[in-house]
Amino acid sequence: MNRRSFLKSLTFILGSTAVGALAYPLARFLAPPQVKAVGEKVSINKSEVPLGEGKEIVFGGTPAIILNVKGMGYLALSRVCTHLGCLVEYNKETNRFICPCHAGTFNMEGNVLSGPPPKPLEKLPLDVQGDNIIIG
Ligand code: FES
Repeated sequence: MNRRSFLKSLTFILGSTAVGALAYPLARFLAPPQVKAVGEKVSINKSEVPLGEGKEIVFGGTPAIILNVKGMGYLALSRVCTHLGCLVEYNKETNRFICPCHAGTFNMEGNVLSGPPPKPLEKLPLDVQGDNIIIG
């Protein structure tokens, strides 16, 4: 190996390493959080979530909300935004979730209406048993 080919190889190796070192953190930053809410069941009484209202809970360490929506019944959604993980706020007047970080908006079912979030809010398993709402 002569000096020229050695320097070419060295430049290629150092350049590849530098690109990889920059690309990995950038890809991690841009990728949506892969957090799935898992935890012990949470039970609350139906009277705590009147029609048209929402109740914030924590399910398995994940902030979530239970809604009582006219015509749809009870819904349980994670409040963790699917963009970069900020907590969305429920706006009762507009019936939407709004993310304070980059203005992502979601409808009552957690579907993305606008902004950068790449996918809907996570729906949590919910079961109504008598007077109780069971999440999980
Ligand atoms: S973190 Fe929610 S829109 Fe960016």
